Amino acid sequence: MSAKLIDGKQIAAEVEAEVRRECEALASKGVIPGLVAIRVGDDAASEVYVRNKAKKATELGLNGTQKHLSATTSQREIEAEIDRLNADDAVDGILLQLPLPSHLDSKALLDRIDPRKDVDGFHPVNVGRLQQGRPCLVPCTPMGVIRLLESSGIAIGGCRAIVVGRSDIVGKPVAALLLHRHATVTIAHSRTPDLAGAVREADIVVAAVGKAMMITGEMIKPGAAVIDVGINRIEYGFDKLDRLGEAKRNAVLTKGSALVGDVDFESARSVAGWITPVPGGVGPMTIAYLLKNTLQAAKDRRA
Ligand code: GUN
Repeated sequence: MSAKLIDGKQIAAEVEAEVRRECEALASKGVIPGLVAIRVGDDAASEVYVRNKAKKATELGLNGTQKHLSATTSQREIEAEIDRLNADDAVDGILLQLPLPSHLDSKALLDRIDPRKDVDGFHPVNVGRLQQGRPCLVPCTPMGVIRLLESSGIAIGGCRAIVVGRSDIVGKPVAALLLHRHATVTIAHSRTPDLAGAVREADIVVAAVGKAMMITGEMIKPGAAVIDVGINRIEYGFDKLDRLGEAKRNAVLTKGSALVGDVDFESARSVAGWITPVPGGVGPMTIAYLLKNTLQAAKDRRA
């Protein structure tokens, strides 16, 4: 058996088309949703992410801008910037790209963002509302995971789901979203006894631990849906090179590195019913839902 591939690029394009259509309708009323993405310091991955977020926003008819602050910017200066954006009526969404330089208190800064403009869904008000199943801004990657399952026709209600990883950004919120859709949810982590046995019981596996290829085909229930949130760069010398498919192995050998998920794709695809690739699975969904959230925030603030 070979799993059906879940195409994140295609499903993200559907979400983006919905956002574009709604932005056109808002524009005819004179409203252009505004997103400001703040980046502090010179983290290379953050630079790419923030540029892509702002660019895609503008492409879909939002007003996307980047604000780059130097690595030595103080907590107080960023607080002042957030206060200014909170008060700016043209700004609907504020995103503070993580990680921040170590002298900064990330939690205190995230807490300062107006919950109505918190398009990442990281503010405690939105986290609490999500847990209670009340309307709120929901974290983007978890919403993307749910959409991938729903668009693929995978039933969530009544199934057993396991979320491997317990981060505030992915693991905990995705577990809440699955639970609200009536799955029986296990959250597994580094101290879970018999992880393989727990994964093998699940009809839906969401891997979000940040450990390259740790979920293998031997751990997966035949026919399960496997959603891989991990993005790990592996290099020559990585101990599971022999498990890679030919294209990825060649990339490591010729370019020196390749991107892999938390799932051992080649072994998992022969057991699973559905599987997401890395890249091209969950990744494209995150930006799509960020822009959907910004649109939502713009509508809610004017309701
Ligand atoms: N860094 C990595 N992923 C994210 C995200 O989804 N939002 C923010 N703000 N920072 C991130």
